[in-house]
This record gives sequence, C-alpha cells and structure tokens, in this order.
Amino acid sequence: MNAYSQLLNAHRSIRQFKSEAIDPALVERICGDAIAGGSSSGNLNSLSIVLTRDTERKRHLYELHAQQDMVLQAPLAITFCADFYRTRRWLSARGARDNFNNLIGYHIAAFDAIIVAQNACLGFESEGLGICYMGTTLHSMQAIAEFLQLPPTCVPVTSIVVGHPAEDPPKRDRLPLSAILHDETYRRPSDAGLDLAFGKREVDGWRRYLSTPRIKALIDEHGIRSLAEFYTSKVKYEPELFQRDSQSLLRLLHASDFIDGGPLEETP
Ligand SMILES: Cc1cc2nc3c(=O)[nH]c(=O)nc-3n(C[C@H](O)[C@H](O)[C@H](O)COP(=O)(O)O)c2cc1C
Repeated sequence: MNAYSQLLNAHRSIRQFKSEAIDPALVERICGDAIAGGSSSGNLNSLSIVLTRDTERKRHLYELHAQQDMVLQAPLAITFCADFYRTRRWLSARGARDNFNNLIGYHIAAFDAIIVAQNACLGFESEGLGICYMGTTLHSMQAIAEFLQLPPTCVPVTSIVVGHPAEDPPKRDRLPLSAILHDETYRRPSDAGLDLAFGKREVDGWRRYLSTPRIKALIDEHGIRSLAEFYTSKVKYEPELFQRDSQSLLRLLHASDFIDGGPLEETP
C-alpha cells in the first residue's frame, strides 16, 4: 500500500476529543492544501470555509447540530459552504452578466465545497488529527446560515469537527466493492445480491448498535426489529423528519436565491 492508500484505509470518524487546541497555522495550511488539491468547476472556487473555535459560538453550533457532544469537545468546527456570492459580486463589479443564482449554480458550489471538505479531512488525518462529519448541517441549514451571517447564494452544505483523538474506535466496514462498482452499465442487485451486499452489516452493524446501551434502549422503546428498520426509524433517518427538513432546505434555496434567484442583493 502506498501512503495514500494507508491513510484512506486507516480512516475512522472520531467523536471524542482532547481539549488541546489545534495550531491555527496548521489549520490554514490544511485548508489551503485542500483548495489547491481540489478540482473546481470553472476554477471558480465557489465555496467558503467558516472556522468556529470560540467556545461560546461552538456551544451555539452544538445546539444547531442536534446537541452532538463532539461539537463541544472538539477545539474546532468547520462549516463548508456552497458560495456563489463572491463570484456574483465580482461579475457585477465588472459589468458581466449575473449567473449561478440557480439550481445548477447550487450544485456546482456544493460539489466544490464537498470536494474541499473531504480533502481537508484527509489533510487533518494525515497530521494524526481526528474528524467527524455532521449531517445535521442539512437539518439546520437556515439557522446555521443565519448564525454564520452567510450572504445570498451562500449556504452551508456540510460541517466537520476536528481535534486530537481521545478514542481509538474500530474500523467500520463498507459495503463490498462488487455492490458499488459497475462495469459499463448498471447492474441491479438481485435478492441474493442484496443479501451479499448487506448481510455482513445486518449482523455486525446490528450487533454494534445493540451493544450501545443508549441505542439498545431506544431500539427496545421503538420496537425496532432489524438494522433496516432501525435506519428509517425515529431514532435514525426518520422519513417525516427528512420530508420536513427537505421543505426547509427548498425554502432556504429559494430565500438564498439558488432557486428562482433574483438579482444580487448588494450587502457590503
Ligand atoms: C455527510 C456525512 C454526515 C455525517 N453525519 C454524522 C453525524 O451527524 N454524526 C455522527 O456521529 N457521524 C456522522 N457521520 C459519520 C458517519 O457516521 C461515518 O462516516 C460512517 O458511520 C462510517 O464510519 P467511519 O467514518 O468511521 O468509517 C457523517 C458522515 C458523512 C459523510
């Protein structure tokens, strides 16, 4: 394995951190590397990165991220934003036509932000630091956007916490490559293929959840009988919550001009 393979295969999300701060120069270098090493649509670099280190502000983010303890523990939280505000200001200042205040603009910017986020994660991990993504970003997009004072056509798409690991969790498996990798055309899984793809997880993953007393109690409380049921239960990815928050996301994309975008509101 080369060093890159080793780094990727050693990845584990870290959720427990020491209080030790991270050198700001290191954070800046890793963010710079992440941007330099990330392909970018039109090289417009349509993203922004917002660092949160201040304890009080992290406490506020902790509330917005469904009170995940790791936000309080980690010395650094980073919000990656899909951002066309800067580019649109530049276009306007140069008398060029406006664009990117549309759904394609949102996707372009979101992809740029995610590419840089993952590069940054690898950068932090290469320095022995731990990271964990926070999907709660998508459920609190509006509140996070307000808290970080994001301008129009700029929305948070993902966040991570970063710090010195205070745990050494086991490596989590992935679905088999054969289930994910297709040759020339998409191969729909047969029932046997589904068993092959999910079988190991239905044993190991289910056992892992049951071995955590807090989760086991919730599983019992909600009468959840299997890993599949767990995933779309109230405890994990509840369909009603996804429906509600999808509507909020659409409203935010409207309000921030990414859908049916209006002219740029010049807020210096
Ligand atoms: C977009 C995204 C959002 C995630 N959100 C959360 C989260 O809110 N809380 C959490 O504890 N882990 C979160 N994770 C981490 C996943 O649970 C983790 O990556 C997955 O279980 C695989 O484990 P591993 O990263 O240790 O290999 C998220 C991961 C991704 C990619």
